[in-house]
Amino acid sequence: MSELVRLERRESVAIVTLDRPERMNALSWATVQRLGEIGRELTEDPRVRVAIVTGAGDKAFCAGADLKERQGMSRSQVREMLGAYRSELAWLETSDFVSCAAVNGVALGGGLELALTCDLRIAAPLATFGLPETGLGIIPGAGGTQRIARLIGESRALDLVLTGRRIDSSEALTLGLVNRVALSADQLLESALKWLEPVAEGAPIAQRSALSAVRAARRLAFEQGLDFERAAYERCLDSADRDEALLALSEKRKPRFQGK
Ligand code: COA
Repeated sequence: MSELVRLERRESVAIVTLDRPERMNALSWATVQRLGEIGRELTEDPRVRVAIVTGAGDKAFCAGADLKERQGMSRSQVREMLGAYRSELAWLETSDFVSCAAVNGVALGGGLELALTCDLRIAAPLATFGLPETGLGIIPGAGGTQRIARLIGESRALDLVLTGRRIDSSEALTLGLVNRVALSADQLLESALKWLEPVAEGAPIAQRSALSAVRAARRLAFEQGLDFERAAYERCLDSADRDEALLALSEKRKPRFQGK
């Protein structure tokens, strides 16, 4: 039986691969539960600095909800599923490490919503994106309406949510839906790893403080956000890594960060 989601560790980087290529890596109930389980495991491990979420195969990152499973679900099971998206995927935007979707193929519906839950996104050149839910008589239900509006703005979000149209990776880049596009599908994972090297190897306290401060901008009023940033700065100011960085600069060498 397929493992549904594979977890691979490369030092401080965790690679989480949706592994149901025969179903376009669609999100079944069990897949979402497994993602939650992996999230709990990674969140408890302070060595993890970056988590990359990707899909097995060359066609799909994730085609959204498992529509075959959905057909057999009662309305109350669907309601439970909506709760599970929220509780089991939250770690992607609340844990101490950075999450990044490496979108290797179609990211549709819940698949795009999964990518939107991550902090960052990189895509393969032929990846496609869309929120087709309104065409299916529903709306994005895994936080998609809220996250996409905050990420790319209300007007651009409405275009994608109301028309359900599919866009390619270059339009996704123009809209700011993805941060970058890899040169080829084969290079997607390596490009993500290279891009995030400064995060995986940077000063841990500074990285965590920066991550939490920028994330806070989404939910806090501006003045409160400035207070949050100040408190986050204080944690860095008190750290030995900050002193080490200044010393390394004066000694013209690379700093050796210890997360203290
Ligand atoms: N849930 C369950 N199975 C899915 C799926 C989904 N969301 N999307 C695709 N599959 C399955 C197909 O049923 C097919 O399996 P089958 O041959 O046993 O029927 C297999 O994956 C391959 O899909 P297929 O449509 O033949 O491949 P394609 O390359 O022509 O198209 C997609 C791929 C993803 C574009 C197309 O399958 C699609 O539009 N899927 C629905 C996506 C969607 O609307 N998601 C949002 C849900 S809210």
